[in-house]
Amino acid sequence: MAEWCIVGADGQLGQCLRDALVAQGLTFVALNRDALDITDSSAVHNKIQELHPKFIVNAAAYTNVDGAEDNVDAAHAVNCDGARNVAMAAQEVGATLFHISTDYVFNGNATTPYAHDTPGDPRSVYGQSKWDGELAVINAHPLGSVIVRTAWLYSAYGNNFAKTMVRLSQEDRNVSVVTDQLGQPTSAHDLADQLIKMSAAGIHSGIFHGTNGGTATWFDFTQAIFQLIGADVARVEPTTADKFPRRAVRPHYSVLGHQQWAATTVAPMRHWQEALAEIIGDVRTAVIGPQQ
Ligand SMILES: NC(=O)c1ccc[n+]([C@@H]2O[C@H](COP(=O)([O-])OP(=O)(O)OC[C@H]3O[C@@H](n4cnc5c(N)ncnc54)[C@H](OP(=O)(O)O)[C@@H]3O)[C@@H](O)[C@H]2O)c1
Repeated sequence: MAEWCIVGADGQLGQCLRDALVAQGLTFVALNRDALDITDSSAVHNKIQELHPKFIVNAAAYTNVDGAEDNVDAAHAVNCDGARNVAMAAQEVGATLFHISTDYVFNGNATTPYAHDTPGDPRSVYGQSKWDGELAVINAHPLGSVIVRTAWLYSAYGNNFAKTMVRLSQEDRNVSVVTDQLGQPTSAHDLADQLIKMSAAGIHSGIFHGTNGGTATWFDFTQAIFQLIGADVARVEPTTADKFPRRAVRPHYSVLGHQQWAATTVAPMRHWQEALAEIIGDVRTAVIGPQQ
């Protein structure tokens, strides 16, 4: 019997978690959307009853932030109703659920890091669906749900900002990147490792902020990427978010506080620059192939 079950296993975090579980010799079942659609409550119930895992990670989500503005029901179906289905199934078998959420549950107007217990005040449909999902999960499985909010995820997998910047670094033109949004670039590989550490530490409930340490603007993050891969940092030009109108509102301030880790035996995640330096080689290889 596998100890772990990942739903949404083909997403960016799902793939990082699979690698991390393999590296640690832990047993798991990875369910992608074809294997388990979390909006199908009876399928979720039946599959979790069959697998009886000790830990479930809900890495499934409707993550198209702009698309959600015009697809409210679809976003809600996955991020709230689907999340509730997984939490109810976890509760029935006594599994600990790690449910992944987002900085978008906050309004982005703060000037100091958001504490884990700051009430949600989302400004987008996606953010609202994720906040509703958090509440639904806690309500369905109060003693066995761990909400882990993350932000600015990147890795060698999927589509993400870091991969886009590596691709643009190879083109013969400058890149304009915003300086007026502050957050925490977060390695999805580090987040996967953090979830495993939390399980080993016996964390069964609560709300945690699973972001790398330090803060950066997208401009800072891009400069660091260019520097690490040997591209010309002077090609990264500062701009502001109003030059890039988007369908959904983006938070200006997305820094999540890490105080909650002090109540556990798990250390907060390392500084984003340290994580980026370690992982950038894999990101680069995924985009443009191995270094000659
Ligand atoms: N990426 C970020 O920067 C970021 C920031 C903050 C929080 N988060 C949160 O972190 C978590 C992981 O994000 P990610 O970057 O790994 O997202 P991702 O790459 O978009 O992966 C999400 C996965 O969920 C699957 N999925 C969608 N609907 C489903 C359904 N009904 N049933 C089962 N699977 C379904 C998707 O499959 P399809 O591809 O087939 O649709 C995809 O494989 C999410 O909860 C997200 O909200 C991400």
